[in-house]
Amino acid sequence: MRIAIIGGSGVYDPKILADIGEEKVNTPYGEVILKVGSFDGEKIAFLARHGENHSIPPHRINYRANIWALKKIGVEMVLATAAVGSLNPNMQPGDFVFVDQFIDFTRYVRPFTFFEGGETGIFHVDVSEPYCPEIRKTMHEVAQEMGLRNHIGGVYVCTEGPRYETPAEIRAFAKLGGDVVGMTNVPEVVLAHEAGLCYGLVCIVVNMAAGMPEAILGHEETMMVMASVTDTLKNFLMKVVERRPRGRRC
Ligand code: HPA
Repeated sequence: MRIAIIGGSGVYDPKILADIGEEKVNTPYGEVILKVGSFDGEKIAFLARHGENHSIPPHRINYRANIWALKKIGVEMVLATAAVGSLNPNMQPGDFVFVDQFIDFTRYVRPFTFFEGGETGIFHVDVSEPYCPEIRKTMHEVAQEMGLRNHIGGVYVCTEGPRYETPAEIRAFAKLGGDVVGMTNVPEVVLAHEAGLCYGLVCIVVNMAAGMPEAILGHEETMMVMASVTDTLKNFLMKVVERRPRGRRC
């Protein structure tokens, strides 16, 4: 199984896959339940980041178990989705953003590395290119062809959550070069690198962030925006999978 989809908020079911079954994977960090199905001649794993009923808050997600499980079943490429707020006036609700950098403002209550010293050793992972440029290019091409409002490149600011930010924090993040804000991509993308997985992310803007003109904060409101793009997002992911780099590591 080469490909996994990690579905963020609003993406809980792997309906794009046929012959869906469940697979339980044991990891040193606990058990992970994955959905496994097929699409375009390929077996694909699907993982709902927050659980199927959105029951796991950002700081309680077992990021290490999730990534370990994907690695264990042979995944090489991860396509992830994330609902985000926007602090860039050009990035509006409904837009797709293919980010190329992150800034980490989590507070380290979440375990964020596989390398704790001792038996697990010490390793300093290179995250100069946190998101796979090939997947980003493919995502951009697909979005252009589908006529979606989208942005190639952007900086994802990861906060600890589960609270939203203050307007002062959003102003500060904008000064630091941030474009979108979310609560989950760190440490997920970092662990993917530690595990040697190729990782691509599509962010879906679901609200303007705190203090921005037309800011809307609230899970229900933002999930309405997400619901309005669910079908589009599924089509988009299918097309990205169809165009995946084949036969070699990207
Ligand atoms: N802030 C943080 N995370 C988010 C937001 C936001 O405004 N919208 C969606 N996820």
